[in-house]
Amino acid sequence: MAAAPPRRRLARPRALRPEPVRGERAGTPRPTYLPFGLGPRLCIGRDFAVVESVLALAALLRDWTVSPVVRGGQVVRPRVDALVTLRPHGGLPLVVRRR
Ligand code: HEM
Repeated sequence: MAAAPPRRRLARPRALRPEPVRGERAGTPRPTYLPFGLGPRLCIGRDFAVVESVLALAALLRDWTVSPVVRGGQVVRPRVDALVTLRPHGGLPLVVRRR
């Protein structure tokens, strides 16, 4: 889950600054990327899950390519359902091909 800080609190809102995602303080008041929770109940499987997800993706992408769906010459962009977490509205259409 990502919680964007209000833009007015950021001096350069479009600059790439990964520090909040890494949990480091750099001008924002708190970490803004928290899929594994935060604080004393932080997920104990966080590091394992991050490594495992990279390995799983690497294993899949060794044999398959994934590309966006193109309709009428336009890439189909997912619409976002922004509730507590972000997810693609109605799924994420992709073209999956064996390499
Ligand atoms: C993508 C994978 C995962 C996600 C998104 C995830 C997310 C979370 C979240 C949001 C919490 C609640 C934090 C809170 O209450 O503030 C949590 C807690 C926890 N997670 Fe995960 N988790 C993942 C994988 C794992 C794995 C692989 C393990 C174990 C090997 C694990 C073990 C735990 C445990 C034991 C807690 C409870 C920690 C506590 O209450 O002290 N999680 N996780």
